[in-house]
Amino acid sequence: LEEGPSRPNEPISGDRIRASQRQFTVKKPIPMLCFAAMKGVILAAGKGSRLYPITHHIAKPLLPLANRPTLHYAIDRLKEMGISEVCVVVGENEPQMREALNDGSALGVAISYVRQTDPHGLAHAVGFAKDFVGEDSFCLYLGDAIYSESLAPFAEKFKSSGCANLNLVKWVEDPSRFGVANLEGERIVKLVEKPKEPESNYAMAGMYIFGPQIWSVLPTLQPSARGEYEITDAIQMMIDQGEQVVAGVYKGEWFDTGTLNSFLDTSGHLIDGKSIVADNAHVTAAVGHSVVIGDGAHVSCDSIEDSVVLPGAHVSVRGHVRHSILAGRVESSESIEDQIRWNDSTQ
Ligand code: DAU
Repeated sequence: LEEGPSRPNEPISGDRIRASQRQFTVKKPIPMLCFAAMKGVILAAGKGSRLYPITHHIAKPLLPLANRPTLHYAIDRLKEMGISEVCVVVGENEPQMREALNDGSALGVAISYVRQTDPHGLAHAVGFAKDFVGEDSFCLYLGDAIYSESLAPFAEKFKSSGCANLNLVKWVEDPSRFGVANLEGERIVKLVEKPKEPESNYAMAGMYIFGPQIWSVLPTLQPSARGEYEITDAIQMMIDQGEQVVAGVYKGEWFDTGTLNSFLDTSGHLIDGKSIVADNAHVTAAVGHSVVIGDGAHVSCDSIEDSVVLPGAHVSVRGHVRHSILAGRVESSESIEDQIRWNDSTQ
């Protein structure tokens, strides 16, 4: 039988699509998937531009939250789902990511890496993990998502239902900045990426479980209006082809760490609104709620609250520091509020 497309978005002919579908039915009947190991794919190739300038220097997935790299939380959640093999899709951040996470043995998983050439969208990114996944099912986890609750019940639900795809969804007040799912019972019947007028309050919440059916739709995807290969479009194609696509309704807290506000919200949640000051940090300031001051940091100001100071930073401020992320050598003759600073730069 002919192999599937070698590149994620390479258009393939009808014959090749049929060939790859035949391969799936002949080589591995879907019920067998119940017994196959599930793998993990973490997307971590984005540029993190909403956290510039800090993410010019530290890859967003490695930014410390409560003094642990963001991606460690993702790996914890995947391990709870019984996953021990993880592929991290990296971009320009590849050298830093490899150095920080290595082969994963320190975290109790086997990590391999694939490089997405340019961040052209989630469906583009996942295509690079095709060889890693093979014919297994896999959990696709967005590297900037943090969940307060275990996701293991959703892996169980995927396995027991025999569906082609399960997507984590969460009821939110304003879903317009997310992919939005229309549900009929447990089934997802329609998906729209960031609709201006959402038809439902269920947001796609950053975790997806797929069987091998995904691989036959990826090569036929076209870029969306924002120029990205959208995972929501890929899932919609699976729905249109009659595949069983279900929702896993998540009731816990869900954070997307990609902006100043959401990063600080996540940090505040993880430390329960308290403050953590590393033993070897030097702090001359009144430390208020939701503050993390990293290893070896020096902080001198009147007061600091709702902020994260990265390890090794030197912060000297006349006035207070509020709702900010600071790294490097930050000096200011006035208070700092609502800022992301690396040295004197905010760009
Ligand atoms: O946060 C949930 C939302 O995530 C979903 O509701 C949307 O349906 C989904 O499209 C996605 O939307 P975002 O616009 O928030 O995705 P973002 O560009 O922030 O990327 C999410 C993660 O994927 C981030 O960790 C970076 C990584 N990524 C992103 C792109 C575009 C890649 O690895 N490669 C890429 O090409």
